[in-house]
Amino acid sequence: MQKLAIRGAKRLSGEIPLQGAKNSALALLAGCALCSGEVRLKNCPALSDVFAACRILNKLGCKCSYHDHCVSVDARDMNCCAVPEELMREMRSSIVFLGAILGRKGECELSPPGGCELGPRPIDMHLSAMEQMGVRISEEYGGMCCECPGGLHGARIDLGFPSVGATENIMLAAVLAKGETVITNAATEPEITDLGNFLVRCGARIRGQGTPTVVISGVDKLHGCEYSVMPDRIVAATFMSAAAVTGGELDIKGADPRHMRSVISVFQQMNCSVFTYDDRIFISAKKPLCAVNTIRTMPYPGFPTDAQAPVMAALAKAAGTSVMVENIFSNRYRHVDELVRMGADIKTEGKVAVIRGVKKLCGATVRALDLRGGACLVLAALGAQGESRVENLCYIDRGYENIETVLRSVGADIKRIKS
Ligand code: EPZ
Repeated sequence: MQKLAIRGAKRLSGEIPLQGAKNSALALLAGCALCSGEVRLKNCPALSDVFAACRILNKLGCKCSYHDHCVSVDARDMNCCAVPEELMREMRSSIVFLGAILGRKGECELSPPGGCELGPRPIDMHLSAMEQMGVRISEEYGGMCCECPGGLHGARIDLGFPSVGATENIMLAAVLAKGETVITNAATEPEITDLGNFLVRCGARIRGQGTPTVVISGVDKLHGCEYSVMPDRIVAATFMSAAAVTGGELDIKGADPRHMRSVISVFQQMNCSVFTYDDRIFISAKKPLCAVNTIRTMPYPGFPTDAQAPVMAALAKAAGTSVMVENIFSNRYRHVDELVRMGADIKTEGKVAVIRGVKKLCGATVRALDLRGGACLVLAALGAQGESRVENLCYIDRGYENIETVLRSVGADIKRIKS
């Protein structure tokens, strides 16, 4: 069990290089299984979830190796269609291997995915879409056996909710299917655009990625390519909050402000100065933070649910009362009790969190219970008086590459303790 020891109340200042996006890299890695040629995926973050995806690819018979933020995948000799339960359980995004394996092989065996406990995380939209493309799914012993002997065919799939994972799964299943697939009410997150652009680079015929209607015309095969993963907008939001909660200023290199309009707006409402450039965001929090009236998490381009917890750390010290409404997941306030242990004044009721800013937070020993909630606790510890311990670092390592090294480089008193 690893933890972080943090001595807070130090203003952060300096330049941070931004990592590649976890939530794009994982879908792109699944997409590599569709390619009959070598893929070199650059700007891949060194995260436990990325390494888990590489283990799945190796298990499928693909040659997959990670070196210096580049993953090389050769799926030409892919010879397996089953993902073992222990690998499926490691993360939520393992479910997007369903579409990739079915697209490539026409059959697949896997069990429900794992991932952070944010409330029920059903995959009904994923499975319903696969059935509309001709897949027969039988569930036995907690696993799913998916078959489509004649190969997948295109379909018109109307999503009841713009699910990111379901949109990704359908795109992955459709690129080698017979005929045309139209996804309506598709997710429009930048990670969807990145996946579509990657698949097109491999020879797929896709248009409308990043809009609510995505059209995929099946092709016979995909070749390899070299592609660079987009920057991680949620990690960028997390570091913006680190500047806000410590009253510091950070220059986040590699960030794409076009992906972060709703997040930037919240920090400006909080009384931070934010300057944006093509590939970086500069934030300064020299003035006292102000509460923000109501922040509602929404599908893109609305305020991202993944930024809810990181931003809450800054709001905990913002003068006045802020309200957050979590509309995407039903159990995404598990970090609140831990924040209260540090002196935060936060009440939650269902989807709503009411945050009354306090003058200071106090160091404490707190426990990460999921990825973004864990990041929130690190930020709160940075902005607290005294020393904190943040336990269950494994959650944070799923999404943040060397978080202590990055934060120490801009002035944080933070170290990893291996107990
Ligand atoms: C992706 O999860 C991200 N994960 C999540 O980031 C992110 O919070 C989420 O999208 C929303 O943006 C990855 O990309 C690996 P959804 P996903 O399908 O695909 C319900 C992080 O911290 N739903 O858009 O699982 C679902 O329960 C993670 O990096 C169904 O009901 O999200 C949820 O309430 C956390 N049935 C809502 O839709 C389905 O078949 C949004 O889920 C699928 C989803």
